[in-house]
Amino acid sequence: MTIHIGAGPGQIAETVLMPGDPYRARWAAETFLDDAVCINEVRGMLGYTGTWRGHRVTIQGSGMGMPSLSIYANELIRDYDAKTLIRIGSCGAMQGKVNIRDLILAMTATTLSTPSRGILRELNFAPCADFDLLHKAYQAAEARGTPTHVGGIYSSDVFYDERPDLNEQMVRHGILGVEMEAAELYILAARHKVRALAVLTVSDHLLTHEALPSEEREKSFGDMVEIALEAAFA
Ligand code: HPA
Repeated sequence: MTIHIGAGPGQIAETVLMPGDPYRARWAAETFLDDAVCINEVRGMLGYTGTWRGHRVTIQGSGMGMPSLSIYANELIRDYDAKTLIRIGSCGAMQGKVNIRDLILAMTATTLSTPSRGILRELNFAPCADFDLLHKAYQAAEARGTPTHVGGIYSSDVFYDERPDLNEQMVRHGILGVEMEAAELYILAARHKVRALAVLTVSDHLLTHEALPSEEREKSFGDMVEIALEAAFA
């Protein structure tokens, strides 16, 4: 048990999928895993461990934003020996070529600040994905014909952003989409020598202001879960 995760020793797998929404963790575990057991309910941040095609996997909610993800990822890595962490989440598109429902595999995650800022201080560390996971996720996405973009994303601290100039710079510099967790996950993975990747579905578009209809969110989320599982175990 840790401060924020109630699982006992050995109850968490080496491979962990991390959706922001704890109810998504439950849905993914019930839909894709065999013998899923709830291993965390502390603060309602649900986590489940089961098997997928015989491989042990945990699906643990991260909450929204880097401070929340940082708590769960730190405890998963340091106390439960997680070795592969894959964020599965949504993002807002920042380029015209990226469409609603497309998949983004985050090669890098640009950020203004993360909970690691206190350690990195003036250093502009470049948070990047594990190449092997990225490569396998791309192959899995291609095999199912999912339109997929690979490149840089922006991990923001704010959903209700009041700095349009920053978004403009992101767009200008080719950033594919914006979300709120990946940069800290990548930094923690680098620090602790584990593997990380963020697999993201485009749920809204910052340029066209389109949004994914709610009835389609489940299907897109399901595709993403399967791509993440294939990347982890291919
Ligand atoms: N901004 C930040 N995070 C997001 C967005 C967004 O537009 N869409 C999905 N996650």
